Amino acid sequence: MALAATACASNAPQDTLKPKGPESRYIDHLFFPVFWIAVVVFFFVASAVLYCAVRFRARPGNENPRQVHGNTKLEVTWTIIPFLLLVGVGTASVIGIFHLYKDPPGQRISFVPASASATGEPAMVGKVLEVHVIGHRWWWEFDYPGLGTMQDQFLSPGEQPGTALVTAGELHIPVGYMVRLDVTSNEPAKSPEGVGPGVIHNFWVPSLAGKIYAIPGHITHLNLEADSKLITDGHPITYSGQCSEFCGLSHANMRFKVVAESPADFAAWVANQQTVQSPMTTADALTSPLAYAGYTLFNGSGGCSTCHTIQGTSAQGQVGPNLTHLQARGVFAGAVLALNNNNLRIWLRDPQAVKPGANMRIRKLSEREITELIAYLDTLK
Ligand code: CUA
Repeated sequence: MALAATACASNAPQDTLKPKGPESRYIDHLFFPVFWIAVVVFFFVASAVLYCAVRFRARPGNENPRQVHGNTKLEVTWTIIPFLLLVGVGTASVIGIFHLYKDPPGQRISFVPASASATGEPAMVGKVLEVHVIGHRWWWEFDYPGLGTMQDQFLSPGEQPGTALVTAGELHIPVGYMVRLDVTSNEPAKSPEGVGPGVIHNFWVPSLAGKIYAIPGHITHLNLEADSKLITDGHPITYSGQCSEFCGLSHANMRFKVVAESPADFAAWVANQQTVQSPMTTADALTSPLAYAGYTLFNGSGGCSTCHTIQGTSAQGQVGPNLTHLQARGVFAGAVLALNNNNLRIWLRDPQAVKPGANMRIRKLSEREITELIAYLDTLK
């Protein structure tokens, strides 16, 4: 009883049994018939065993039971019924796998700039949002081909280099639109440990879709769509995701969020992501000295810019997450921490304490330096 009760959680954001989109619902509709058939089979077999055990138990004065040898009718029956069940479940599963994997029809989503649109506002056209999902140790990168001015990790057919919107930790999607994910792992062919190829990750957002492997040097696909029910402008719903393939020390810290928002909110998010940050100047040193000091530290020799990009400034590092528009995110550090100044301080004091094994190995920063860096990071809206 106590064991069964452990399955009851009122707040379970990664519950596969509460689908919130057509793909996860499809999987759910496959799961439930199979589950109930299994329940019927279980009770039938268990009661038959119990009945026989009681009915034919040894009693005082029993002689040896009648010896039987095979029963063709029974054996054929208990072979054919499971065979038919397995063929049924197998067929439905294979059809489902192809259904969920196929490239969705419809034009890829793009934006007509305000200057060329009839309404004078940037207009979203197309039916399918394409996103490149890249698993890193240990965080997720999301590149939206054609929606920005940054470098994509890999190019879709026909895509120009330097035309992607690049972000990390939070996947924004417009509700009611099909999302086509092209998934890979950025791991090298040879792992840093030199023991073989880099690790495989697995992209999983239980409320919206099944799982898909992120494999180095290989691109896999996953379709997902979030229900538009209950979502209005300014009120997105956030779903939790998780790497679900053991990939090393901080595997459990390799999380992400999916922000399902109204198409208008999504368009606004894209528009904000497309603005570039300005490099700070000596004039800023007078008006916001703390932020300027942080900017100098960030871009100084051996500074954060070695690994991080902030589009529009000289920071062009490609090792860690792209930090342009950091403040537009709700989470950071592999979505382990909510984004606020307190958590940024905890992170900058000792990243290894938050995410053991992370590639962010930095010298000990003084509290003053951390305050300056946070003041700069606060400007990345
Ligand atoms: Cu990546 Cu587990």
